[in-house]
Amino acid sequence: MINSPRINKICELVDKRIIAEIGCDHAYITKNLFQFNKIDFAILSDISEKCLQKAVKNLEDYKIKTTFFVGDGLQAINLNTYDIQPEQIIIAGMGGHEIINILKNEQSKKYSRYVLQPQKNVVELRTYLHQNNFEILKDEIVQEGKIFYYVLKVEKVDKPKPLSIQELYFGNPSDLKTLKEYLKYELSKRKEISAKKKVLENETLIRLIEQHLLDF
Ligand SMILES: C[S@@+](CC[C@H](N)C(=O)[O-])C[C@H]1O[C@@H](n2cnc3c(N)ncnc32)[C@H](O)[C@@H]1O
Repeated sequence: MINSPRINKICELVDKRIIAEIGCDHAYITKNLFQFNKIDFAILSDISEKCLQKAVKNLEDYKIKTTFFVGDGLQAINLNTYDIQPEQIIIAGMGGHEIINILKNEQSKKYSRYVLQPQKNVVELRTYLHQNNFEILKDEIVQEGKIFYYVLKVEKVDKPKPLSIQELYFGNPSDLKTLKEYLKYELSKRKEISAKKKVLENETLIRLIEQHLLDF
């Protein structure tokens, strides 16, 4: 089992038993899900044949519970020759813009539940999700080494609940200790930038972080 706080947090938010992992690379997430006995079947895809082969090798023990496709985003799922549709889709370890591009594809209309872990541009991703009728059900934060990651569980709905400014910028994590650490880290990074050059967006963020830190 891979012991990664990031991967464990993603697995924690998966609550359906048939999943697709888009951009699986080595497929450590899916492997952990099998090992935690959280899933029964997985559809795996990657845009790179070479990456997908790593997944095939890593999931050798789960041959009858997996199927693999090379392809861009959600389109690969349609190559699935089984009559098995994923109940939840995991897209992790990619930038927020790449995730948005995958969700923008027509194919995404067929699937309503996702677990998303952007490497960056999480505010842009939340904005896209909210504007496109995805409700953010969970928006957790996790620290692995020096890096903080957000992991979102989302579902397509008719009308998503409004997002507060704090939710848009900082999510709604249950782990307030890690959130506070993240806010302190982000504040010192932003202040360093501000000392060199004043940019409106950065100054606004500094104010928002300082305000949010008062809540703790
Ligand atoms: C950093 S790895 C993340 C692996 C795994 N999901 C994780 O989080 O541990 C990103 C993977 O996404 C794949 N990828 C990037 N863009 C993609 C796309 N549009 N469709 C499918 N796979 C993509 C890359 O080839 C790479 O293997």
